[in-house]
Order: sequence, then C-alpha cells, then structure tokens
Amino acid sequence: MLWLWVFIFVVNSPLFSTESQAAASTPADAVVRGKYVFALAGGCGCHTPKEGPVNAGGRPLKTPYGTFYGTNITPDPTTGIGSWTDQQVIDGIRLGVRPDGSVMSPVMPYPAFNEMSDQDVTDLVAYLRTLPAVSRPNPPHQLSVPFAGLGMRAWRWLFFRPVPAPAHAPTAGIERGRYISEHLAHCQECHTPRTMTGTLDRTRDLAGNADGIDGEISSNVTPDPETGIGKWTTEEIVELLRTGFKPNFDNVQGLMALVIDGIAEGGYKDMTNEDARAVANYLKSVPPIVHKVGE
Ligand code: HEC
Repeated sequence: MLWLWVFIFVVNSPLFSTESQAAASTPADAVVRGKYVFALAGGCGCHTPKEGPVNAGGRPLKTPYGTFYGTNITPDPTTGIGSWTDQQVIDGIRLGVRPDGSVMSPVMPYPAFNEMSDQDVTDLVAYLRTLPAVSRPNPPHQLSVPFAGLGMRAWRWLFFRPVPAPAHAPTAGIERGRYISEHLAHCQECHTPRTMTGTLDRTRDLAGNADGIDGEISSNVTPDPETGIGKWTTEEIVELLRTGFKPNFDNVQGLMALVIDGIAEGGYKDMTNEDARAVANYLKSVPPIVHKVGE
C-alpha cells in the first residue's frame, strides 16, 4: 500500500502540479498566444506592404520628418530579423535598439511597447518566427532632417525613459483595457497630439491629432460628448474595434482601418469581446478633453 500513498502524495503535491502546468504550455501554445498579441498590436500592420507579403516591410509612412518605411521583420536572416536572438528582437520591440547598437525612430512605437509584459513579448517573438521568411531589402527612409541617425539617438536619450515591464499583463477590467490600449494597440501613438519635439502631449491624452502619420486626422477619442466620443455607448466602441463601423454606419478609413483589419494574420478585429469591452471601458474612464480635430 505504501506506493499508493506515495503516488497520491506526489500527484497532489504543489511541485507536481506546477510541473504539469508548465508542461501543458507547449511552444505551440506560445505561438497561438503570440498571434493574438500580434492582432492586438494591429497586426503590426506598418510592416506589411499593401501588396504583401506579411511583415516583409516597405510600407511608406509619411511624417513631418520625412517618409519612413516599415522594415522587414520576417525570419529572413539577411534582410529580416532571422539572425537576431530572441532577446535582441525583444530589445528591438521594447527598447528601440538593433543588435548593432543603432536606434530606431519613434515611428516604431517602442515607447508604447516598452511595458509589453515579458510573457506577451516572448509569445509575440515565438509567433513572428513562424511566419514565412521573405528576402526583401529595406528601402532607405527618406528623411527631411539632417543627421537622422544621430537625431534618433538624441531623441531617445532625451525623451525615452525605459521602465521594467510586468511579467504578466493584467487579465481583466479597466487595467486590462489600459494595458491593451497603451502597450499593445498603441492607440495614443495616433490619437494623442504631439508637442514640437514629436513627443506625446500627455496633458491632452487621446484628444486627437490633426496632423498624424500620412497627414491623417486621428479623432478625439476621449469621453467629451461634443468633440470626442462621449455619446458612444460601450457596445458602439466595441463594434468599432471589431468591425470598423461607427454608430452612424460609416466605416473608418486609412490607418484606423489598417489597425482594425490588420492584415490577414490579425488586427484589432480579432480582439475578444471581453478585451474590446475592456478597451472601451478604459476609453470611457479617461478625462474628457475638449479638442476639435477635423470638420
Ligand atoms: C495607426 C494610427 C491609429 C491607431 C494605432 C489607432 N487609431 Fe483610431 N483612428 C485613427 C484614424 C486616422 C482615425 C480616423 C479614421 C476616419 O476618420 O476614417 C481613427 C478613428 C478612431 C475612432 C472613430 C472616432 C470617430 O469619432 O469617428 C475611434 C473610436 C478610434 N479610432 C479608437 C481607437 C482605439 C481605441 C485605438 C487603440 C485600440 C485606436 N483607435 C488606434 C488612427 C489610429
């Protein structure tokens, strides 16, 4: 009988159960979770050119500082990120640095991704590695500012203060909504106006940007009833995030359509109802700001 007691003891011990949980999370699970992180990040849509293939780079993004091109983030070892280690890809996403020490422009929203949880960023990298490698050299950015490389380094040094990311993301409630909006979906990168130095004007968070990327007007999405989306119900915001349709049955265009539709592999449209509701509740919780953008 002794062996039976030993067996029961081992199976019920916390050590055994943690081990079996760890074994239950296979690399395949990480890829499935990573695909969802990719979708919540808008399918990383800036990296996929209009005509495809996925993540192969070359999509132009017009800014006041010139035209940037989304880079090749496929696993191709020479033109993509296939030769980067996992930690190097994570540092690229969360810190904006490349393995050679050069610094990315903040058009790549690394300041937003800085607090992407360890779990989410690790899963995301596992997923990126499963996509087809495409050999396609990055076109050089066409910038209107001199010494662009130096400028990006200076900007990062002046304005970027990395903070430690959490191990895991919040799982529910407004905290989950804030986390998704700020650190995965990077809503503020388009919807918050910018100061002269190109940094986000956090005193007018989410109050709209009349001079956004590609010259697009990003709406005021604070709860102000007249200039923002204060009259929208939570369900109407959920509907917009999952379909692109506004309460007046218009659908959004341009970059908002890009992040919602994402690409075939994923976009905001793939958000679960719970996550879309968390984002909507978060939007309803931010201070309303009177700021009219657009007509
Ligand atoms: C890459 C830039 C970009 C990102 C990221 C982005 N948006 Fe937008 N968003 C836009 C633009 C541009 C428009 C205006 C589209 C139009 O008028 O057709 C818009 C429109 C909207 C609207 C419609 C507002 C109205 O009054 O019609 C809502 C709501 C919205 N965005 C919420 C969000 C939320 C929430 C997030 C993050 C989960 C987000 N956006 C991320 C660029 C972006």
